[in-house]
Amino acid sequence: MRKKIELKVALEVYPPEEWTAEDRSLIELAQETSKNAHAPYSDFLVGASLLLENGKVFAANNQENVSFPVGICAERAVLSYAMGNFPDSKPLKIAIVAKRRNENGVANVMPCGLCRQTINEYEVKFKSSITVMMLSPDGNVLVAHGIEQLLPFRFNDLNS
Ligand code: THU
Repeated sequence: MRKKIELKVALEVYPPEEWTAEDRSLIELAQETSKNAHAPYSDFLVGASLLLENGKVFAANNQENVSFPVGICAERAVLSYAMGNFPDSKPLKIAIVAKRRNENGVANVMPCGLCRQTINEYEVKFKSSITVMMLSPDGNVLVAHGIEQLLPFRFNDLNS
């Protein structure tokens, strides 16, 4: 008999009045960094900031290319740099903020599939979940407590 495999996922709605100082500074850094995105093709400017367990914070933005698939998202840019330079420090939190070039305010943003799989890679490497915070146009932050909430049926083991 056929049956279903169901997983329940959830995002937390995190209002600004409850943000910790640490979270606020990560969100502000992501927003600030989005201004330096190289996004002449989409005009969609994304910034991502990342906190490591060693206390270091990094930020990067999307870097597009005239050959579109060459472009890289903000999340993978910051994770590649931080993990390439601090391979032994666990990533704890990533904040993502986006804006359309010709609009005021914040745009909705969710990490793409490639970025979700990349976040998963470092969760598996460090055997620890990464918190993903996405600023919403309404001013709240959507929080995924671990990549499972964004990528429930994911590929993370070559041997099972
Ligand atoms: N983008 C990111 O950098 N991060 C996201 O979470 C969503 C999308 C970039 C990719 C591309 O440069 C532009 O936004 C439009 O998709």
